[in-house]
Amino acid sequence: MEIKQNISLKPYNTFGVEVNAKSFVEVNNAEELKEVLKENDKQILILGGGSNVLFTRDFNGLVIKNNLTGISIIKEDDTSVWLKVGAGEIWHQFVLFCLEKNYAGLENLSLIPGNVGASPMQNIGAYGVEVKDVITEVEAFDLNTFSIQKFSNSACEFGYRTSVFKTSEKGNYFITAVTYKLKKQAEINTSYGAIENELLRMNVSSPSIKDVSDAVINIRSSKLPDPKKIGNSGSFFKNPIVSLLQKNKILKDYPNAPNYPQRDGSFKMAAGWLIEQCGWKGKCLGDYGVHDKQALVLVNYGSAKGSDIFELSEEIIKSVIDTFGIELEREVNIL
Ligand code: FAD
Ligand code: EPU
Repeated sequence: MEIKQNISLKPYNTFGVEVNAKSFVEVNNAEELKEVLKENDKQILILGGGSNVLFTRDFNGLVIKNNLTGISIIKEDDTSVWLKVGAGEIWHQFVLFCLEKNYAGLENLSLIPGNVGASPMQNIGAYGVEVKDVITEVEAFDLNTFSIQKFSNSACEFGYRTSVFKTSEKGNYFITAVTYKLKKQAEINTSYGAIENELLRMNVSSPSIKDVSDAVINIRSSKLPDPKKIGNSGSFFKNPIVSLLQKNKILKDYPNAPNYPQRDGSFKMAAGWLIEQCGWKGKCLGDYGVHDKQALVLVNYGSAKGSDIFELSEEIIKSVIDTFGIELEREVNIL
């Protein structure tokens, strides 16, 4: 285990932003993690795949790249299997592993970049499924007491793109493993409109979990930029939740505004739609801009600075407030 000094983080963030870390180490197991933490009490940053961060400046501390791997069955019955997965496993590789074994529950979450350890951080979600639906336990290393803690599903306080790890316990834990309860008998979820249409296009009438995964991959590939080609961090903002009153006010002027009723009587509005209405979709400001197929995705076409992309996000927030009276919240972690 080598602690490197003054390392470029460009290969470690999907926005492809060029910044330096004062020091950088990759940890492969819990012992290495303990060793590194005991010797370094300075500012640390835990990094998985770097697909939900925007670096706006150099990081003046120690970046710990998490490579803790391993997938093991810890429990099994006739209908379900419990898999404990190392936080450094690549998320999509893990989804493919489950598809191969015919373990159902993650197929709608195919092709999300990043690592297993970050999946509970913001309760990753896509195409009608959130990872909270299948997480039974999160194991984490307490950075203050150096002990391992176990969080039950309810202790994680999952919400839309959030959890206790992104809110009240932010910065206090290094997630080391996540346990998922998956089904042996598939319960196919194609309720998200685009999936059914894609399955029809694929000529599939009774889909397997592999078919659902393929449909999700097709849809995602058609509108989300591949970070290997164009730097980005997926949705830059969360979809805002508004009251019935606010939703009706917008619908009066824009009857086609997409909106989704929530259980508590509020409505989720589509941030991508709001941003598009403000004229930002496809806007290119030199090396960076707003993706032309998905206005919720900010992109780095070359060597943009994180601070420029952050400034662009400020401008977008301002114009959505001015036009709709809604304040967008960033999904991406700003560093
Ligand atoms: P990182 O970016 O490395 O880290 C994210 C945050 O978690 C940071 O604050 C980091 O410090 C912290 N962190 C990471 N690992 C640990 C750990 N082990 N312990 C403690 N803290 C940790 N997200 C969705 O929810 N749905 C989508 O459909 C989706 N689509 C995307 C599409 C694209 C093209 C891209 C680029 C991103 C997309 N995302 C999506 C966002 C992103 O993929 C997820 O948030 C993913 O879970 C981030 O994983 P990561 O390992 O890259 O996290
Ligand atoms: N829309 C527009 N213009 C745009 C983009 C979207 O009008 O430029 C409209 C679409 O036509 C649709 C609605 O907005 O009516 C929703 O669009 P889409 O289905 O593409 O989903 P999204 O709300 O933009 C969310 C997640 C994605 C996730 C997809 C699929 C958030 C912040 N984003 O995007 O997650 O993959 O749904 O479930 O919730 C991520 O978190 O990084 C991410 C990519």
